Amino acid sequence: MKTFAENLFGEDDKLKSSVLADGELDTRHGPILYMEDVSVSFDGFKALNKLSLYIDAGELRCVIGPNGAGKTTMMDVITGKTRPDVGSVFFGQTIDLLKMDEPAIAQVGIGRKFQKPSVFDALTVFENLELALKADKRTWQTLFFRLSGEQRDRIGAVLETVGLSAFAKERAGILSHGQKQWLEIGMLLMQEPKVMLVDEPIAGMTHQEIERTAELLLSLQGERSLVVVEHDMEFVRSIAKKVTVLHEGTVLTEGTMDEVQNDPRVIQVYLGG
Ligand SMILES: Nc1ncnc2c1ncn2[C@@H]1O[C@H](COP(=O)(O)OP(=O)(O)OP(=O)(O)O)[C@@H](O)[C@H]1O
Ligand SMILES: [Mg+2]
Repeated sequence: MKTFAENLFGEDDKLKSSVLADGELDTRHGPILYMEDVSVSFDGFKALNKLSLYIDAGELRCVIGPNGAGKTTMMDVITGKTRPDVGSVFFGQTIDLLKMDEPAIAQVGIGRKFQKPSVFDALTVFENLELALKADKRTWQTLFFRLSGEQRDRIGAVLETVGLSAFAKERAGILSHGQKQWLEIGMLLMQEPKVMLVDEPIAGMTHQEIERTAELLLSLQGERSLVVVEHDMEFVRSIAKKVTVLHEGTVLTEGTMDEVQNDPRVIQVYLGG
């Protein structure tokens, strides 16, 4: 039987060697995800302009910036939705994401949470997670797929993580907006991503849901890396360690929340001076 890496990369030895024998990613000598000098233009307009970004294994990075700064486009490039004109995007030291399509990038361990939850209202919370598990090619699902005890345990653990254990048997349709967002994060977790990209997670949430989401995202770092894009500065402050400020498709500055908020260039950009 072919190995995970062989299935993923076919006969390409260079790519194959980038996934270690046990399926672990090689991040021993640097970041888990990086992009360098990436530019994307739409009809001559540069949405990304020589953007470079380095994400460490296990870190929670917040990315802020005014509307149109290129935050979502950055995620589109990482996940293979948008191809850059120039630049490089690597997962670990050796996996060239620009050589892979969207499904392959998701499968190699980069998960993305879109703003609009796409849970199945008619299915139970548990079934939604079960579906996410089946969507994972690594489980070799068939029409006759049955959950193993281990997989049930995994779903149970994810339910616990996202705080929805009590809702396992409820239809997802009855969940609040915030709970649906958590379920979607849970569905993402079923795929065991090594990097999670989260775009504007708290839009439309109540104050309590926002606090719970902050706790959830904080609990997810470490075992995996997170890149969180959010406009709400109070929320960003509550989870941030390192903050990257994007402006006009490139990094304006990086640092702690205090550092970036006191940076005159950042103030200028936000005040539209
Ligand atoms: N598919 C596209 N075609 C044309 N222009 C696009 C496309 N996608 C993005 N843009 C433009 O690129 C720029 C960056 O957009 P992007 O969505 O990445 O910004 P953003 O930082 O996510 O903004 P927001 O905070 O409003 O979500 C914007 O000017 C946008 O209009
Ligand atoms: Mg956006």
